[in-house]
Amino acid sequence: MTHITIDGIDFDASKGSTILDVAKFLGLEIPTLCYDEGLSAWGGCRLCLVEIGTGKRTRLVSSCTYPVEEGLVVRTATKRVIDARKMVLELLIAQCPTSKTLQDMAAKMGLDKVRFKPKWEDCIYCGLCVRMCEEQMNAKAIGFANRGEKLKITTPFNINSEDCRKCGACIYICPACTLRCDGPNPENVLCGRCYNDLQPTCLDVSDDYNCWMGLKYLNVESTGFGAVCPSPHIEASFITPPNSSRRSKSSSLPLPDIQNAPGYGCENGVR
Ligand code: SF4
Ligand code: SF4
Ligand code: FES
Repeated sequence: MTHITIDGIDFDASKGSTILDVAKFLGLEIPTLCYDEGLSAWGGCRLCLVEIGTGKRTRLVSSCTYPVEEGLVVRTATKRVIDARKMVLELLIAQCPTSKTLQDMAAKMGLDKVRFKPKWEDCIYCGLCVRMCEEQMNAKAIGFANRGEKLKITTPFNINSEDCRKCGACIYICPACTLRCDGPNPENVLCGRCYNDLQPTCLDVSDDYNCWMGLKYLNVESTGFGAVCPSPHIEASFITPPNSSRRSKSSSLPLPDIQNAPGYGCENGVR
C-alpha cells in the first residue's frame, strides 16, 4: 500500500493506482475528458489537473496518469487547479463549441467566458476514438496523423479502412460527435442551457426536437419505440435497438436515419 494525503484525507492506496483512482474511490470529483475507465489513460486533455506537493514546491499534474507515491500530498480543488481547468476548458470549447459534453462541463464549472477565438472544429483530439478502436474493438482502423495545425484523426492512407468493423464505437465515445449543441453562435460560444435546466436553444431552431439524434420518432405509445433528448424538457423512452423485443413488431416506422443526419460521421470511414 502507498500512503497519500488527498484533500486532507489520509489514505492507503493500492500500488499502481493513480490519483484519479483514489479520488474516485473517495468520491472526490475531478472532471475528466480523455479518460475512460475501459481504456488506457492517455493524459492528453489536462482537464483532470490536481495540485501536488506542499509549500512552494507544488505543481499541477494530470490525475488520470499520475501514479500515487509514498507521502504524496494532493489537493484537487485549489484556486490554481480550478483556474487551470477553466483555461483548459476554454481552449477546448474554442476548438469545438458544438460539443454538448463540453458545454455541460462549462455550465457545471461556472465558465462564463471563452477568451480564445472559436475554431468550430469537429474534433478536440482527445484520442478516445483511437483507443476505443484499438483496445476494445481490436481493429486499429483509425489513428492520429500529422502534427500541429494539420493534426487529425484518420484512417491509414486516408481511405476507408478494411479493418473498420463499422461498429460505431468511435462515435459512441466521442465527446464531440455523440451529442451536438446548437446553442453556441459567433457572438457567444457558451450555451449550457440544458445543464442549467433552461429551455434548450435547439427548441427555438426546431420545435419538434427534430435533431440529428433521430428525435423525430417520438410517437412512443403507438410504435413502442422512441428517442430521448438530453434535455429534461422532453418525455420519451430511450432509442430501442432494432432487434429489441420492446420494439413493436407491428411498427412500420423506420428506425431513425442517423447515418444520413447532419452531424453524423467522422473521418474514420464509419459512414
Ligand atoms: S467503427 Fe471502425 S473505426 Fe470506429 S471503432 Fe469501430 S472499427 Fe474502429
Ligand atoms: S474524433 Fe472525437 S473521440 Fe476522436 S479524437 Fe476527435 S473528439 Fe476525440
Ligand atoms: S482526463 Fe486526465 S488528461 Fe484528460
